[in-house]
Formats: sequence, C-alpha cells, structure tokens
Amino acid sequence: MIGRLNHVAIAVPDLDAAVVQYRDTLGAEVGAPQDEPDHGVTVVFITLPNTKIELLHPLGESSPIAGFLEKNPAGGIHHICYEVDDIIAARDKLQDAGARVLGTGEPKIGAHGKPVLFLHPKDFNGTLVELEQV
Ligand code: CO
Repeated sequence: MIGRLNHVAIAVPDLDAAVVQYRDTLGAEVGAPQDEPDHGVTVVFITLPNTKIELLHPLGESSPIAGFLEKNPAGGIHHICYEVDDIIAARDKLQDAGARVLGTGEPKIGAHGKPVLFLHPKDFNGTLVELEQV
C-alpha cells in the first residue's frame, strides 16, 4: 500500500545553523524557508536525489514542534512520510487494523499542497508516520 519515502522531517532548534550545515557542509540542495502558519512551523525543503528532508522549526505560540524540541533540545527526527495513491482507502484500511489516526481523521492539506494524515507513533514502533496522497 505505501509507496515511496516522500520525506524525513527533522525538528531543528536553530534553523539558520541547520541550513548552513546542510547547504555548505553536506552540500545539499537547500530551499528558502517557508512559513506555514496553519501548521505552526517554518519549513526548509532539502532535495536529495531519492527523497527530501524537511527541516522544521516552530512558528507561533502553539507550534506542534515546540514540545518536541523541549524534549529533544538538540533536535531530532520528527516524522517520516510515505506516499499513498488513495489516502482515504489507506486510512480506512489502517483504522480497520486498529491504527489510530491523529486529529479528526480527515486529511488536511500538507506543506506540499497535497492531502496528508498522521498516524499515532505508538502504533508504528515509536515513529510518527505521515501519509501523503500523491
Ligand atoms: Co511531513
């Protein structure tokens, strides 16, 4: 059911430092920071030959990333995103299998303008999983 790894998202305490590290030290193709007020994050997209990395930094007062960085002050992998062809069919199948979908259970439009859902990390080996319909 799941397809390609769309991205790995990394929460970072210092976005400028992370950009410099990925661009200059690791030599990656790093985009400009984008504020996503609906999601409470500033995102920097890094394009790799086979997938993407998203650097996430808190934006606003109720950012979902703020608590994560409090627990992981040096930053850390926040979630991984798998592509699916049909997000509703994927959701229904996962819920039938007992997996919990976060929020209302209805897809939201994610940072790439595509429908996304998040699955509870306790149901997936401690990993927050994002599904994105492509
Ligand atoms: Co994501």
